[in-house]
Amino acid sequence: MSGQLNPQIWPASATRNSAGEISIAGLSVTEIAKEYGTPVFVFDEADVRKRARDYVTAFTVDDIQTTVHYAAKAFITTKIAQWVHQEGLGIDVASAGELEVALRAGIDPSHIIMHGNNKSVSDLERAVEVGVARIVIDSLIEIERLNAIAARAGIVQQVLLRLTVGVEAHTHEAISTAHEDQKFGLSVASGMAMAAVESVLACDALSLAGLHSHIGSQIFDATGFELATHRVVDFAAQIRDIHGISVSELDVGGGMGIAYVAGDDPLDVFEMANSILDIVRTQCARVKLPIPHISVEPGRAIIGNPGITVYEVGTVKPVVLDSGMVRHYISVDGGMSDNIRTALYDAQYSISLANRTPGDLQVISRVVGKHCETGDIVVRDCELPADIRPGDLVAVAATGAYCRSMASNYNHIPRPAVVSVARGVSQVLLRRESIADVLATDPGIN
Ligand SMILES: Cc1ncc(COP(=O)(O)O)c(C=O)c1O
Repeated sequence: MSGQLNPQIWPASATRNSAGEISIAGLSVTEIAKEYGTPVFVFDEADVRKRARDYVTAFTVDDIQTTVHYAAKAFITTKIAQWVHQEGLGIDVASAGELEVALRAGIDPSHIIMHGNNKSVSDLERAVEVGVARIVIDSLIEIERLNAIAARAGIVQQVLLRLTVGVEAHTHEAISTAHEDQKFGLSVASGMAMAAVESVLACDALSLAGLHSHIGSQIFDATGFELATHRVVDFAAQIRDIHGISVSELDVGGGMGIAYVAGDDPLDVFEMANSILDIVRTQCARVKLPIPHISVEPGRAIIGNPGITVYEVGTVKPVVLDSGMVRHYISVDGGMSDNIRTALYDAQYSISLANRTPGDLQVISRVVGKHCETGDIVVRDCELPADIRPGDLVAVAATGAYCRSMASNYNHIPRPAVVSVARGVSQVLLRRESIADVLATDPGIN
């Protein structure tokens, strides 16, 4: 686990030099750590751009109009928004904050769609004011709310309806989103989705552009998409039969999985795109529906693997287990405040000593953070060199998605810097927070 850098998991440019140092796009993590401190997130810009470009290429076909929106929730900064937009993607935002990042990046709102199960009035007002292309409706209450806002603004807002189609994505419960008993979407089975169609059609300031379905995250094959698309297309046929209108857009969501550890084997982007587009063709033909405009919203599949986290080791503690086996607890200078996924989803990661060539002996290890929680684990089970010591750097692969974006200030720990590297040159995407930043929201005792 600590020698070879599996290209399925690590950034495309990740290499190890003769001194054992890992470098990204030609810059060693030792140099990066010296300049920016640790923990630090490091992104390979060319790799992000290539994965974004591949999505557009894979979804470009002669017979179907398609759009790829980058799911900002995975991780966004103004520069990342700019990169993916330059590669041809729009942006899917899930909050007013993500919207502002996309706008700061200069992205025309006609390339932005907004999600959220509880968008506030001010979120919706801002989205309407700037003119986002689509707002994805998630509840009946939101229809009235948005209609009133759009009417006040004197516009007709294009909307998609987020459907709950009763499909269990084969992934962790917390990231599976289209089964019935959860908070997202309008249930088709209960009739709520058809009630939403009727309600939108009755609104003067809303126009039903299409339907949306997102079944979950870390999906490795197209089976879930097939079942979901089958149900969404059936629903579109019902709308046609009852209301005489053909839905012109279908957004199949994101959730395309990536490799975190050896053995993870998701479909590649071209296989996934071919499968999804074939499913759409087959399902639309089945109910004699014209093929609608298809959108997808990948986040993790673009930003996950190009990012790593570099930590400095602070302590190493051998712990004797009941079995008599010894496990090294290796404490690093971050933890659940910069990567909550291990605690939240039992996520698994690949980790490697990053600053030197190790001795030959590997030991069972657990890499833990510096927070006051037993569950503050970065990598639960791994083998690391027995001679790992304070001051060493370790790199955790595939932390680009849902790590810095979900980071917190637990224990008043400032959040790490994020840098990107291209052709040996680094730049700051987000500067490191200081303790002063963390204290800035506390007015003090006077
Ligand atoms: C509606 C929607 N679209 C897209 C995504 C992106 O998912 P992923 O990053 O797994 O591709 C999510 C993730 O939660 C989502 O909820």
